[in-house]
Parts: sequence; structure tokens; C-alpha cells
Amino acid sequence: MSNIKVGIIGLGRLGKVHAGNLAFRVPNCELYAACSMVEAELEYAKKELGVTKTYANYDEMVKDPELDAIFIVSPSGLHCEQIQKAMENGKHVFSEKPIGLDVAEIEKTMAVIDAHPEQIFMLGFMRRYDADYQYAKEMVEKGELGELTVVRCYGIDPSDGMESFVKFAGASNSGGLFADMSIHDIDLVRWFTNQEVKKVWALGKNAAYKQLDEVGELETGAAMLQMADKTMGILVAGRNCHHGYHVETELIGTKGMLRIAQVPEKNLVTIMNEHGVVRPTSQNFPERFSQAFVNETAEFINCIKEKRQPGVNANDGLQSTKVAIACQKSYEEDELVSLSD
Ligand code: NAI
Repeated sequence: MSNIKVGIIGLGRLGKVHAGNLAFRVPNCELYAACSMVEAELEYAKKELGVTKTYANYDEMVKDPELDAIFIVSPSGLHCEQIQKAMENGKHVFSEKPIGLDVAEIEKTMAVIDAHPEQIFMLGFMRRYDADYQYAKEMVEKGELGELTVVRCYGIDPSDGMESFVKFAGASNSGGLFADMSIHDIDLVRWFTNQEVKKVWALGKNAAYKQLDEVGELETGAAMLQMADKTMGILVAGRNCHHGYHVETELIGTKGMLRIAQVPEKNLVTIMNEHGVVRPTSQNFPERFSQAFVNETAEFINCIKEKRQPGVNANDGLQSTKVAIACQKSYEEDELVSLSD
């Protein structure tokens, strides 16, 4: 089989990362086309990434007979419709998280995905493709920690990304802090425990950036999850981390505990100077999960070549969005929310 020809929609903060990986870092694929509403981004795709075709209109790109696959990195509220159109036009589809922001729309999208079982569908929960998370998962599956009792997750974006975030949130609906940020941690809790979430209680506070009130967004939020087997999930999500990008996960079990990136270290360098002993920290998601983004894309391309579906599917998208919506409701209505089956 020749190289898989991919068309990408969205060349923003994350789209550029995926596009660079598809063009230069992932074997057996070619970034053939790109679609964006921003002319400068299409110029960038032609000049810097060498794409053959650019489109301002997605409906035209999905009909391009040269394309085998579509990579969706557009705003979250557009994913469902774009997945459906790509599937209906016979393309394999990778979609960024969240799969969607509305449960009925996701269910409709899942029906379209299910109606095309020969086509690959993958959702971008890239942490599952990070070497450290995979190592931790292996420990859990081997029973090294015994039975899990608590999964604690921090996911806090750098405060220096606030300006670009306010622009992003003003231009499109992110789904709120829980659907935009905690969704990765919700997926991790489901993945590590192999359990679904039954109850959530969420809280939030805007303190340093009151402009987030104007775009209906939260600066810091916290949620407690109860899984079907009573395992607890504790999530902290935020957008105001002064030392960089803080993603930390802790698993507590009956025989032991483990932590992933307890300190969000950038590398193995330690600096000793007038500030004391300084460990540099990772600064943003493209840096921290650089290899995970490459790994997940390589897995998508391999799945197409090997005609098998990947480990992260549309149901993972549906379940995680349901939990994120429940967290948002719990925060807004100040009550414990139960999830139905
Ligand atoms: P962004 O706002 O920086 O970029 C959005 C892109 O979509 C832009 O290129 C814009 O021109 C394009 N676009 C918007 N509407 C369009 C339309 N109707 N037709 C064609 N192009 C259109 O957004 P960002 O931060 O890159 O996020 C994109 C998606 O990636 C979101 O769903 C977000 O949740 C997800 N994301 C995932 C991350 C992860 O850790 N896996 C990290 C950051 C974002």
C-alpha cells in the first residue's frame, strides 16, 4: 500500500503540531491537503509543509478523491459534523478531543461511524500514547498497585497562554474547563480503572483572570468522581500555572502508589544559582506531549494500513463528554450529579 494521503482541517495552536508531524515525522503518510478559514495558515501549509492542495471549504476537501484520511483539529463544536461528512465520503478519520459537546450529536455521529466499519476512526486522547502513561498502565494491569482506590489528576495550562486562550474561547465554544481540559483526565481515570463514572461533584473559582467571567470560562476547577466500583477520581484543572504546563497523575492502590510527572520536569538538567536549586519545567502541551502526538498519529496510520481499529474509540469520546457535561452541570447548579448508564 502506498503512503496514506491525509487532509487536515484546522491549523491553529494544535493543528500546526499535527500538521508538522504528518508532513515530516510520521512514516507511511503524506500531508496532501489542508483546510482553514485563515489565508495565512493555508500559505504556511503550502510553503512550510509542502501540501499539494489547500481548501477554504471543508465540504470540498472531504470530496477530494485523492485523500484517504481526514485529520480534524478544528474547534470542538465542529468535530461531530466534520466526522460525519468525512465518514460519509469514505475517509478514515482522526478527530481531536472532545469528540463533541452535545450527547445527542455524538450519538448520531457514532451511528455514522458504526455504519462504516471498514473505515478507521480514532480520537485524540494522546496521553494514552505517552511512554510514561503506558508504563504506568502496564504496572496497573500487572497488579503492581493492587486494587486501585484513588486516581488524582492535575491538568493546569500555563498562565502565559491566557491571552491566546481568551481569543480561542471568544471565537468558539471550548465546552468549558471540564470538556476542554479535564476531559483528558476523565479519560485517564476511565482507562486506568476500566470503570465508568457514576457520580460527580465539581467546583470552580475565577480569581486572577476575571476576564474569563466574560467568556463564561473557569480559571480553576476541581471535581470528584465516583466510579462504578467506588474507586475515587480527584481532578484539578486550570489555566493559571505560573511555572509552565502542569500535568501530574497519581494512582493509589491497595498494594502501592505511583506518580507520573509529580514535578513537571522539562529534562534532566538541574541549575544551581542565586535562586537555589532549579529544575526547569515543561512549558506547554506541544512540548510535554511532543512524542505522544507523534505516537498517536503513527498508530492512526498503522491502523489504516493494517485494517484494525485503534484502542481509543468513539465510545471513549461519548463517555468522557458525558462526564465533562455532568461536571459542568454540577459546578453551575452546585449539586452532586449522577450519570445514568
Ligand atoms: P485554534 O483556535 O488555535 O485553531 C482552530 C483552527 O480551526 C484554525 O486554524 C481555524 O482557522 C480553523 N477553523 C475554525 N473554523 C473553521 C471552519 N469552519 N472551517 C475550516 N477551518 C476552521 O484551536 P486549537 O487550540 O488548535 O484547538 C483545536 C482543537 O484541538 C480543539 O477541539 C481542542 O479541544 C483540541 N486541542 C487538543 C489538545 C490536546 O491536548 N489533545 C490541545 C489543544 C487543543
